[in-house]
Amino acid sequence: MKHGDRRPIAVFDSGVGGISVLAELVELMPRESFLYFGDSLHAPYGIRTSAEVSALTEQHIEALVHRGAKAVVIACNTATGASIARLRQKYDGIPVIGIEPAVKPAVQAFPGGRILVLATPITLSTEKFRTLLRSYSEQAEIFPVPCPQLAAMIEEGELSGERLDGYLAEIFRSYRERPIDAVVLGCTHYPFVREAVAAASGGAVLFDGGAGTARETRRQLEKRGMLSDRTEAGTVELDNSDPQPMRMRLCEDLLRLGRKNCREKTEKQG
Ligand code: DGL
Repeated sequence: MKHGDRRPIAVFDSGVGGISVLAELVELMPRESFLYFGDSLHAPYGIRTSAEVSALTEQHIEALVHRGAKAVVIACNTATGASIARLRQKYDGIPVIGIEPAVKPAVQAFPGGRILVLATPITLSTEKFRTLLRSYSEQAEIFPVPCPQLAAMIEEGELSGERLDGYLAEIFRSYRERPIDAVVLGCTHYPFVREAVAAASGGAVLFDGGAGTARETRRQLEKRGMLSDRTEAGTVELDNSDPQPMRMRLCEDLLRLGRKNCREKTEKQG
């Protein structure tokens, strides 16, 4: 067992969305170093075939492991659904942590409630998601809602405005006849448009899996004696398959926004 492992934790997403999970990780474990890779060149993954998503995910994770990652966080619901089982088999000695839509906490907070799960079409079509849905279907009224365009808008840095509001209004139109209690943000891009989603839902409580994934990552590293023994802050490297200056600026802005959101959430929870 290693003690004081200072190698970076790799964080992977189809694009810029996984930065919402990276922000939670950095806030929870500031002494770790992180290597973030977003595949914006091929985003969005959510409207590709499952085979394409698996191939892209596995290729990028392999590269991150070669760059010396001690653990891999798949900060993408779509890629987790398509690839996590195979990746865990492949990388025996490296913890591989995934993310899934936060249905459980939403149902626990609103037993018997009306809950919408917003995610990509692929995520909602996986067996993994159908199993998750089945295990909670008796405890609440749960509606899977595919949002095929939403991740692409966020990739373009469109976090507010008329086009986004119009798209969300269309998404919520058929569910507005009765109040919605909770909305699960089942794609890591969506926390960056949480205000617009909350408004379109008529004030529902929002849930996402970022904080839970960060806590699970810490548990996995702790269990294996792989937490960093740094006494100072670690580094955060942002990388992308399409590193245009505009995109890299968006990545930095999203990391700042994500960390600010985390801190505000922690303050609210007291
Ligand atoms: N961020 C990804 C997720 O959590 C999906 C976005 C995409 O379609 O590429 O599902």
